[in-house]
Amino acid sequence: MTSSRKKSKAQPAPPTTLFLFGAHGDLVKRLLMPALYNLNRDGLLDEGLKIVGVDHNAISDVDFAKKLEDFIRTEAAGKVGNGAQALDPALWAKLANGISYVQGDFLDDSTYDALAAKIAASGTGNAVFYLATAPRFFSEVVQRLGASGLLVEGDNAFRRVVVEKPFGSDLHTAQALNECLLKVMSEKQIYRIDHYLGKETVQNILVSRFSNSLFEAFWNNHYIDHVQITAAETVGVETRGSFYENTGALRDMVPNHLFQLLAMVAMEPPAAFGADAVRGEKAKVVGAIRPWSTEDALANSVRGQYVAGKAGDKPVAGYREEANVAPDSNTETYVALKVMIDNWRWVGVPFYLRTGKRMSVRDTEIAICFKPAPYAQFRDTEVDHLQPTYLRIQIQPNEGMWFDLLAKKPGPTLDMANIELGFAYKNFFEMQPSTGYETLIYDCLTGDQTLFQRADNIENGWRAVQPFLDAWKEKAKVHIYRAGEDGPAAGDELLTRDGREWHSLG
Ligand code: BG6
Repeated sequence: MTSSRKKSKAQPAPPTTLFLFGAHGDLVKRLLMPALYNLNRDGLLDEGLKIVGVDHNAISDVDFAKKLEDFIRTEAAGKVGNGAQALDPALWAKLANGISYVQGDFLDDSTYDALAAKIAASGTGNAVFYLATAPRFFSEVVQRLGASGLLVEGDNAFRRVVVEKPFGSDLHTAQALNECLLKVMSEKQIYRIDHYLGKETVQNILVSRFSNSLFEAFWNNHYIDHVQITAAETVGVETRGSFYENTGALRDMVPNHLFQLLAMVAMEPPAAFGADAVRGEKAKVVGAIRPWSTEDALANSVRGQYVAGKAGDKPVAGYREEANVAPDSNTETYVALKVMIDNWRWVGVPFYLRTGKRMSVRDTEIAICFKPAPYAQFRDTEVDHLQPTYLRIQIQPNEGMWFDLLAKKPGPTLDMANIELGFAYKNFFEMQPSTGYETLIYDCLTGDQTLFQRADNIENGWRAVQPFLDAWKEKAKVHIYRAGEDGPAAGDELLTRDGREWHSLG
């Protein structure tokens, strides 16, 4: 995916000190530093950018920069550079010049004195505090940033905080975290990340929907039968067993990533592509998701867990055998849901959502299924029924959009075939290696909050999944599926009982 949202007009971001809390964690080395490298490649960073790692382990500035370089050169090579050359030494040197490190405990006030000293020495008052830490530190760090005065903005000097996911673990904890953040800074300073919004294909949903008038004509309950949103993964929980045990597929993927996709498909046109207008429309549509009763929440959700099976040709362990997972765990690694949006555009149109680990293929897609045309005129032909037709928005991999059309098969009789009109990104756009974080980091440095979640977006998401969490507390049945299958049979029945079926994956 490219990081070219505004590149043609984009100016380098202003000089800033970017503090990376959790500097030794995976996110920093796998995604944030490669993304910063790519922004530098594209001329979008100021030479005065300072990157300061903050964590409890001791390491010198030079060794910290070297460690990042080695990782990017080897493990993250596919995400950076320009294809021909992964890491250009001259470009890296420019970035590495500004890299330093603060050793400190996140809970110790003296750590924050060291950060203040870094800002004082940086030559700019602008600072971004990126919380790439375990979630238990979010409020702790933010309170200390506030108490130490580091969040006070001066004339022409901004102070911003980036909060990673998971943002809370239910409605109540998300509200408490928002309250904590808003005690020490204003909404304008808060950048709640959902990395799905950094994906070009996700940003394109709004652009394609609202720039092609054709779409608006059928984008409603007169022509759309239902919408399917799928995020299928082939990976298991890997090294994240202890995190996943307390999280599960619903919390991990639905109120954030899948609801972002739902909001992009279902929202009303914003008055402008600015942060307030876009986020206002998204909050409205997610807020219009019908809150199910306990009984309906159980009837409209399916939880699954993978047992041993295959990933490709390779045998893989079941979830309960993974590291740091309880042998009798009841955590779901798959979830399928049916939700209804109670507004004029969507009343009566079910949205089916599913996500799972260790499924047959990696495939994130939105399949919009159209109502069938009336059959009457085909009664006396070879055609015995009209197949459902879809518009598929393929988020990843094979990024693109595919439109089904029914067409006459050549020959003397009137028979039909389902054909596809397609647009693949790779056939039209130059794709440079990227992580998906480039746009998000650049937008934060330049003060554009459009692709970040506002407090009400987050809380509306949790409000819509809370009935499932509550219902499952009482009766949490988990259906088994074999690794390499597309979820449990019960996930298919969620649609077949409505006379529908999942669009096949891959
Ligand atoms: C993360 C989840 O937010 O998103 C992971 O915590 C998941 O469990 C990942 O694998 C999926 O992201 P992507 O970009 O690979 O679809």
